[in-house]
Amino acid sequence: MTIHEITNTILEGDCIQLLDTLPENSFDMIFADPPYFLQLDRDLYRPNQTKVDSVDEAWDRFDSFEDYDNFTLRWLNGCRRAMKDDATIWVIGSYHNIFRVGKIMQDIGFWILNDVIWVKANPMPNFNGVRFTNAHETMIWAKKSRGQKRYTFNYQAMKMLNGEKQMRSDWELPICSGSERERNGGGKAHPTQKPESLLRRAILASTNPGDIILDPFFGTGTTGAAAKKLGRNWVGLERNAEYIATARSRIDSISGALPDRELYHTPSRRDFPRVTLGNLIEAGYLHEGDLLCGGGGKASAKVCADGSLIADGFRGSIHRAGAHVQSARQCNGWVFWNYSDGGELRPLDELREKYVREIIPADSEKQGEGSV
Ligand SMILES: C[S@@+](CC[C@H](N)C(=O)[O-])C[C@H]1O[C@@H](n2cnc3c(N)ncnc32)[C@H](O)[C@@H]1O
Repeated sequence: MTIHEITNTILEGDCIQLLDTLPENSFDMIFADPPYFLQLDRDLYRPNQTKVDSVDEAWDRFDSFEDYDNFTLRWLNGCRRAMKDDATIWVIGSYHNIFRVGKIMQDIGFWILNDVIWVKANPMPNFNGVRFTNAHETMIWAKKSRGQKRYTFNYQAMKMLNGEKQMRSDWELPICSGSERERNGGGKAHPTQKPESLLRRAILASTNPGDIILDPFFGTGTTGAAAKKLGRNWVGLERNAEYIATARSRIDSISGALPDRELYHTPSRRDFPRVTLGNLIEAGYLHEGDLLCGGGGKASAKVCADGSLIADGFRGSIHRAGAHVQSARQCNGWVFWNYSDGGELRPLDELREKYVREIIPADSEKQGEGSV
């Protein structure tokens, strides 16, 4: 089978067999939510004697830890084979299984990039009151090997999502409930449906629009639903026909991402061409001796021919000179300094944007023609 034939479809069957039939080196990301092997030996009741919905499905039963480890080894090897050389994998689990999974991942060559803790904003209480409330699950985020040079991490997108502060490895998100929960008759369609918010974050962090994501334990298709909304492609593997039907109708009811790529992609700093003050002088936008103003007119600096500024007896880059006049550790000189546009003060950043618009395209055309 080719990757095009199976893109945005669910394959029914045992993932151990299916993974071997997938084209090698084909997926940009994997999200795996495998059986937990909870090993519950009795039903759990709330104080009001109603039974707690827990996971006692056949798919979560294994004969022994050895049996579980063999299963884990096989699906992880299958995933590794299907991953592109610049792909990453996310595996989610609880204390019941995640340590075993993590050890096996390291044993077969995966290199762990982070463990991300999903802190459940509204966890189920510990009804027996004999242990701590289980309020989190762990996600392992890994690349294929230690030597893998490239992988996607959308640092700026994560920062933006986190109110412009670096995203941390503890994500507080509510469990899946309310209208998001897939229902079957009166009850839950699946006992362990993950919240879409969790998938959105993993997908936004480690893929780009148009990428293709594999989920070998598809369940209700949360990965496919989030991927479709974010303009990514997906493939699901699942062996339970009822879950597949739920996942299909769930994903079919989503209209899909808008064609505007800009909405789903946060440009990284590398996407912007590097421009210096020296470039603006060379382009004739500024001249040595020009005066720049900053801090609401409190600071001023003179432009030097080499693209540095002299401010208050200090000579340095626009950033360092801006920091100096404010006695600050850091400063974004493009925003701090203003130039005079016919008497009107305008941020230096506007000249940089003008340069990117007017000069850089001409430069790229020249390179295309083979000029030096
Ligand atoms: C923890 S659930 C995943 C739930 C899913 N993330 C969601 O949000 O709905 C694990 C799923 O894997 C499926 N499964 C278990 N063993 C499997 C196997 N060997 N091959 C394919 N699917 C399997 C189960 O039927 C179950 O739906």
